[in-house]
This record gives sequence, structure tokens and C-alpha cells, in this order.
Amino acid sequence: MTLAFDQERNSGPAAASAAAAMPGSAQVATLLPRISIQAFCDTREVFAALEEARSDRRTSRTQMSVQMGGVAAAIEFYEESPTPNVVILECGHSGDRLLADLDRLAEVCDQETQVVVVGHANDVMLYRQLMARGVSEYLVAPIGPVDAIAAMCRLFAQEGQQQIGRSVAFIGAKGGVGASTIAHNFAWAMSQDLTKNVALADLDLPFGTAGLDFNQDPAQGIADAIFAGDRLDEALIDKLLWKCTERLSLFAAPSTLDRDYDLDFESIESVIDLTRGLVPHLVLDLPHQWNGWTRQTLLSADDIVIVAAPDLGNLRNAKNLVDLLKQHRRNDRQPFLVLNQVGIPKRPEIAPREFAAALDLVLSAEIAFDPQLFGTAANNGQMISEAQANAKAADAFRQLARCVVGQNDTPRGANTLIAQLMARLKHPKGK
Ligand SMILES: Nc1ncnc2c1ncn2[C@@H]1O[C@H](COP(=O)(O)OP(=O)(O)O)[C@@H](O)[C@H]1O
Ligand SMILES: [Mg+2]
Repeated sequence: MTLAFDQERNSGPAAASAAAAMPGSAQVATLLPRISIQAFCDTREVFAALEEARSDRRTSRTQMSVQMGGVAAAIEFYEESPTPNVVILECGHSGDRLLADLDRLAEVCDQETQVVVVGHANDVMLYRQLMARGVSEYLVAPIGPVDAIAAMCRLFAQEGQQQIGRSVAFIGAKGGVGASTIAHNFAWAMSQDLTKNVALADLDLPFGTAGLDFNQDPAQGIADAIFAGDRLDEALIDKLLWKCTERLSLFAAPSTLDRDYDLDFESIESVIDLTRGLVPHLVLDLPHQWNGWTRQTLLSADDIVIVAAPDLGNLRNAKNLVDLLKQHRRNDRQPFLVLNQVGIPKRPEIAPREFAAALDLVLSAEIAFDPQLFGTAANNGQMISEAQANAKAADAFRQLARCVVGQNDTPRGANTLIAQLMARLKHPKGK
């Protein structure tokens, strides 16, 4: 019997331990590349999960189809048609029947096609037999949409790509609420206090203040990358990223008005993608504008922080943002909410807790209006913790950084059989 599937997959214990070490499933950062994926399901539940995976932002570059019919439908289909990069098969039955079906499928499957099996038996013998037949991944139902995406990400993660950087976008519910100030201080806390390598991209091209806030005047910056056209590659990004400190790099905005900045999302997306390949954390400081590229940049970020001041206009705008994100990012974490400039004397305000409750969000940070501190820091080109190390706001930025990095989250392994077995070993029943 010839095995049509490639035997040397990155499955087995190495992949399994990588899977077990993966953070919560909603935090899968990788975008799948331009691959074709076809799924054949046996049950409505797995069909629904894969349909949802199909509409997730992380599969936006793939061509993915999901249908019912299981292995039988797949065999029939591939007798006539070429196989895609990935076939996902749900197998309702197990044992010899499943193995026989897979052998039949192997006869009609291309060598390089990767097969992901979704089964209903949590059985290590079966797992071994599947791996021996060159199956790339075995997931145990029930699965969520992100489990399937994570499994495919593992298959297509090239050397080092597993480390792909996560992006976090900051947007203000109104202009002037301090979104940039908070993004910059957040990036600073990530790099100084959490000792992460961080890149900060100032996407407010005509008016951005990242250069001023960090007291830096780089000769080149983000605009050179966005408008580089064909010359754009990792080496250019590396050259343009301005080393602000040991761990913080800056993509400063030109902050000049000598040209128009009618951007298209594709050019920004390329810069973001390449930067994420170089730096594990990318902070995106978005301007308070609404057009194609700001919308798409926001929707495609791994995490989002909404900064608002506690008044009605901010609440209305934040609500619209939250509703939009809910609609387009069903498998992602909720946005983080920061209320800033709280307690302006004589200003009637909505209480921060009520503000958060109206949005059905947890309040991630509340920062007082302190014009003396923030004004001094801004004028001196300093971060808040440099201007006043023990300031409450400096602590809030550290907390926010910890929240976003997920230091408060319990890691959850992917739903592979081996990850489940590993979890059982760690927590034997009754102990
Ligand atoms: N908590 C605060 N207290 C006082 N002033 C603040 C506070 N947060 C931000 N600011 C000031 O508000 C102004 C606008 O901030 P900025 O970050 O540019 O807002 P945005 O990016 O939302 O337009 C800046 O002068 C900044 O120093
Ligand atoms: Mg701004």
C-alpha cells in the first residue's frame, strides 16, 4: 500500500507541546497565507465551527469551502477534482473503518495536501495510526473555529514564524481624548517594565506626535515604508525602524503637510505584516478618522484598545465602535476600554463604571485628568513614568500592558488529542 500523504509532518510530540504552550485560542495571532482549504463535515456542530472559521479575519486570505458529507463526499469529490492545500475531514466513526476510508482518500489526494482529521474518539492508538498515515493534525470534537485556525497555522508556520508579532491598535472615541498619549505610554511600559521588544507605529501621518513624545527626530519613518512600493521588504523595515531604546523601536510619522496622505490599506498591511515578522509586539497608534484604511487596520489588529473620555459623545462613538467590532470579530477578545481625562473640574461626567457597563465591557484602566503631569511630560518629550515614577497613571499603563499581554490569562492548549492527554497528565483525576 502506498501512502499518498507526506509522512514527515510537524505533528507528534514537538507540535503537541507547541500547541499546549499556545495562549488562549482567541489569541492566535497568525494570519493564514493564501492557501486553499476544503472541509467535509459529518455533524452540524463541526460544520458551524468551520463556517465561522471561514469568515474569521485570520482566514481572509485563504480560499476556504465547507460542506457536509464527511470522508465519503471528499473521496467522491477528489476522484474528479484536484486537492487543495488543506483538507479538513470530520470522521464520525473511528477504528478500522476510518483507517480504510483514509487509505481510499490517500489514493485520490496529492502528495503535498495536508489532511486535518476532526474525530470523536479521544484515543491515543488511533492518533498514532493517523500520524503513521501522514495525517497532519487530529482534533477532537467539539472544536471551536479558532481551534481549526490554530491547527492550520501550526502546519503553515515556517521556521521562526511561530513567533509572529501581535498587533494592538489604539483608537480614540473622539479626537483629543489621549489615545496617542496612552498608546505611547503603553508601548513604553511594555518595553521598560515587561521587557518586551516593541515597535510603535504612528499612523497619524500629518499630525502624529510619537516623535515629539519620545523626544526623537528620526530622519525617516513610517511614510518611507508605506510609500516604498516594490522596494518594501524586511530589510527596509529593519532599516527604517528607529531604535528609541534597547527594546522600543519607533516608526515616526512625518508630521508635515507637504503631501497628501490618501493611503490604501494594502500598503499599510504590508508594512504591518513585515514589522510583525521582526518584532513580537506592534503598537498601532491610529488617528481619529474613519475611512477605508483606518477601518481595515482596526478590524485586522490582534487586539484593540478604545480610549474614551467620560462624556455622552464619547459613549455614543464607543458604542458604535464596540458594535462594529462585535459584528466583525466574533472570535477575538473584546476590546480593552480605557477612560482617560477623568475628573476635569466642573465637567459633568458619566461615572467610569457606568460608562463601561453601558458598553458591556470591563474597564481596563481609568486615568485621571492631570494637565500638570501630562503637560509637563509632553513638553519635555518624556513618558509619564519618567516625569513622575510613582504617578498613578504610570501604574495604570503597566497594568494595561499586563492585561493585553495576557499575563492574567490562563493559557489554554489547542484542542489536539495530545494536548488533552498532556493536560490530563498534569491534572490526574482526583488529585
Ligand atoms: N489624563 C490626561 N490628563 C491631562 N491631559 C491629558 C491626559 N491624557 C492626554 N492628555 C493631553 O491631551 C492632549 C491630546 O492627547 P493625544 O494623545 O494627542 O490625543 P488623541 O491621540 O486622542 O487625539 C495632549 O495634549 C495630551 O498631553
Ligand atoms: Mg492621536
